[in-house]
Amino acid sequence: MDLTMKNFPVFLLALLLPLLASCDEKQVYIVYLGEHSGEKTYNEIEENHHSYLFSVKETVEDAKSSLIYSYKSSINGFAALLTPDEASKLSEIEEVVSVLRSHTTTYSLQTTRSWEFAGLQEGSKWFQLKKEDLLLKSRYGKNVIVGLLDSGVWPESKSFSDEGMGPYPSSWKGICQSGDAFNSSNCNKKIIGARYYIKGYEAYYGPLNRTLDYRSPRDKDGHGTHTASTVGGRRVHNVSALGGFAHGTASGGAPLVRLAIYKVCWAIPRQGKENGNTCFMEDMLAAMDDAIADGVDVLSISIVTKDPMPFNEDSIAVGALHAIKKNIVVACSAGNSGPAPATLSNPAPWIITVGASSVDRKFLAPIVLGNGMKIAGQTVTPYKLGKKMYPLVYAAQIVNPDVPKNISGQCLPGSLSPKAAKGKIVLCLRGNGTRVGKGLEVKRAGGIGYILGNSRANGAELADDAHILPATAINYENALKILNYINSTKTPMAYIAPAKTVLDSKPAPFMAAFTSRGPSTISPVILKPDITAPGLNILAAWSEASSPTKLDQDHRVVKYNILSGTSMSCPHIGAASALLKAIHPSWSSAAIRSALITSAGLINNVGKPITDASGEPADPFQFGSGHFSPTKAADPGLVYNASYTDYLLFLCSIGVKNLDSSFKCPIKPPSPTNLNYPSLAIPKLNGTATVVRSVTNVGSSKSVYFVKVKPPPGFSVKVSPSILFFKQVGQKKRFTITIKAISVNTGIQKDKYTFGWYTWFDGIHNVRSPIAVSVA
Ligand SMILES: *[C@@H]1O[C@H](CO)[C@@H](O)[C@H](O)[C@H]1NC(C)=O
Ligand SMILES: *[C@@H]1O[C@H](CO)[C@@H](O)[C@H](O)[C@H]1NC(C)=O
Ligand SMILES: *[C@@H]1O[C@H](CO)[C@@H](O)[C@H](O)[C@H]1NC(C)=O
Ligand SMILES: *[C@@H]1O[C@H](CO)[C@@H](O)[C@H](O)[C@H]1NC(C)=O
Ligand SMILES: *[C@@H]1O[C@H](CO)[C@@H](O)[C@H](O)[C@H]1NC(C)=O
Ligand SMILES: *[C@@H]1O[C@H](CO)[C@@H](O)[C@H](O)[C@H]1NC(C)=O
Ligand SMILES: *[C@@H]1O[C@H](CO)[C@@H](O)[C@H](O)[C@H]1NC(C)=O
Ligand SMILES: *[C@@H]1O[C@H](CO)[C@@H](O)[C@H](O)[C@H]1NC(C)=O
Repeated sequence: MDLTMKNFPVFLLALLLPLLASCDEKQVYIVYLGEHSGEKTYNEIEENHHSYLFSVKETVEDAKSSLIYSYKSSINGFAALLTPDEASKLSEIEEVVSVLRSHTTTYSLQTTRSWEFAGLQEGSKWFQLKKEDLLLKSRYGKNVIVGLLDSGVWPESKSFSDEGMGPYPSSWKGICQSGDAFNSSNCNKKIIGARYYIKGYEAYYGPLNRTLDYRSPRDKDGHGTHTASTVGGRRVHNVSALGGFAHGTASGGAPLVRLAIYKVCWAIPRQGKENGNTCFMEDMLAAMDDAIADGVDVLSISIVTKDPMPFNEDSIAVGALHAIKKNIVVACSAGNSGPAPATLSNPAPWIITVGASSVDRKFLAPIVLGNGMKIAGQTVTPYKLGKKMYPLVYAAQIVNPDVPKNISGQCLPGSLSPKAAKGKIVLCLRGNGTRVGKGLEVKRAGGIGYILGNSRANGAELADDAHILPATAINYENALKILNYINSTKTPMAYIAPAKTVLDSKPAPFMAAFTSRGPSTISPVILKPDITAPGLNILAAWSEASSPTKLDQDHRVVKYNILSGTSMSCPHIGAASALLKAIHPSWSSAAIRSALITSAGLINNVGKPITDASGEPADPFQFGSGHFSPTKAADPGLVYNASYTDYLLFLCSIGVKNLDSSFKCPIKPPSPTNLNYPSLAIPKLNGTATVVRSVTNVGSSKSVYFVKVKPPPGFSVKVSPSILFFKQVGQKKRFTITIKAISVNTGIQKDKYTFGWYTWFDGIHNVRSPIAVSVA
């Protein structure tokens, strides 16, 4: 009784806040002040922040209690509860760079909600390619510190064992923050730091419901454990799986890096965990401010915005800019909003933006139809059917009468008629609802098996799920075949074979259908994404407080799980960056990104250009420069370097004048296309464009590079000079690239991009840059 009374107002508050936000109700705002000027103590900084608040609040107490975060380390600013009126008064103060209103559910983690728990080989092929060379050279990333902004960590996982690891790096200044089921004993020489950020979340939703999540760095979702172990999990042998899947070794990309966990994403009240989570911008900014001060070398952030935001309003972009100033490499997910174009997130040129592609491992579970036809399917469900044929139905044939026609094939919750589904294998189509949730609905209605058919948009991409009943997933073409078969007979029958692991599947990689696409809507002059890495059916560690499907109804506990998403590809690049950082500690974050971009591959394992999920050739708006190749990136030959100032000049050129308040934009900033980026995008070319680039020699002292060009269809590309002579390491050479529309008769379509490449080569290194161009 007592509990209900106490909780009732909280519930109301959480429900009403969003409605009241437009009135005079208080909301969280971030007041951004740019840079710290002069050395100040943390106390002085906080007092300074209070003084801003005091200027708009009635009393000192009011000012103090409204402060949520004081950003003190690298970022100068604060988050506070303000009325719109107070916020607008603050924005008029001269030193205030910007005042941003916090958004709810704007940012979220980027998996496509698919899970499993097979214990197999390492998730990705690339570590098998000369991986030992690279790992040895980098000493497995020893002493490089990777920070992750995510849903926390499950520290007991064997992937986070610190056995045999040396003392904490002396540069480390972070902490191990205690909370629910988490204290300093949960950190070790692998997880060297852990913190959580919830003030923004709680300002919006009220106190955290501790049934939903731990109020601590401990992970109740699984996502954060997965990404952290993908970056830096130890090699764990004999990882065995439920359901009899093969066992093997699980390992992160850089097994000896140190991990720093920043929990910023939380469960959303009254919404199933399988439906996602939320990460508040003021919480993320606080985490990034701390991570920079703690001494991380790399940040891996598998979080994106729902809608792309201008750089000065996007807290990941703002935080990352401060990180870059301290030479921290920042890798972020491109997002899971594909296959539509212009859906990409995290497009800032100081971030490495990562798309997702497949690996060469599949879990095959074919279907046999009553007419003898065999249909390819994939799954990692541990459940099996008895070996006989079962009646087969299409969901739309057995829905309750009130289900609208356009979603009748989709097995949405409550849609199936138990009388009609009982004992049958049910074919459901993708569309609305989660993949695992559709399986739950088939099971609820008494179905015995479940076939998940792709819709046209999903093409041939199959994400393997640990469904809670015998199941398999099929591509669009096969879904049509089964629909035809069902139509062709009065008694359709089928059998789903149990799943088997198949390695070296072909072709691989191909681009995931879900991976978000360029062009960037925020700054189309920067070609994004930068690169692609494995993000489909990736095996990594899991939280034992979550089930493999995250469904409330699923009570299975697993130590390893399979997920898909750009959330999974981003930590691969985080790991690769850490290895490069270990080999080349003096390189700038731009140099590391350049090495990754210019060495990426374009060819799949059957020697053909990488395709999309439906087999069509993929392009740089899907994969950037191609599939990452960290062994090659360790020795890139040349790098396109850029400094913090270069990014500020770029911002000046696109009209963002004040992200660093200590920097004055020149009256005539350089053209934004001249940012020394290792790829080239020219939107709306009118006639001819000339851009300037420079490369720094990081290979052998004496070298000669020649240029090769593959112009985008309809354009000519001239690089001048076309030969570069280097006499020593560290030498920098400038060149220009001139792009010209050949003629209007060549069929170049307005606003449609075409793609090409230019490559510097010296006989050993191929330093390749993609080109994307469209005409006005
Ligand atoms: C942390 O918690 C565990 C389990 O409750 C306990 O055994 C241990 O003593 C605690 N460690 C510290 C440093 O408080
Ligand atoms: C907390 O979450 C649990 C699980 O969703 C729910 O049953 C409970 O009612 C929630 N408590 C409050 C106070 O909202
Ligand atoms: C692997 O794990 C299984 C089950 O956990 C165990 O029975 C088996 O002995 C282990 N094998 C090795 C080689 O450690
Ligand atoms: C289905 O049709 C209804 C109107 O009949 C519409 O409101 C709804 O958005 C449609 N759903 C989908 C998934 O297209
Ligand atoms: C399908 O999903 C879309 C987007 O999530 C939503 O707007 C729409 O209402 C959903 N339709 C149904 C019928 O649930
Ligand atoms: C199956 O038959 C129904 C009803 O005759 C028809 O609407 C549908 O288009 C057919 N589907 C296929 C795949 O042929
Ligand atoms: C790149 O530029 C930075 C300064 O912005 C410099 O410290 C670094 O040495 C340069 N070269 C490389 C390879 O990082
Ligand atoms: C292209 O450039 C020409 C000459 O510089 C100018 O007259 C014309 O308006 C431009 N066209 C567009 C679409 O910007």
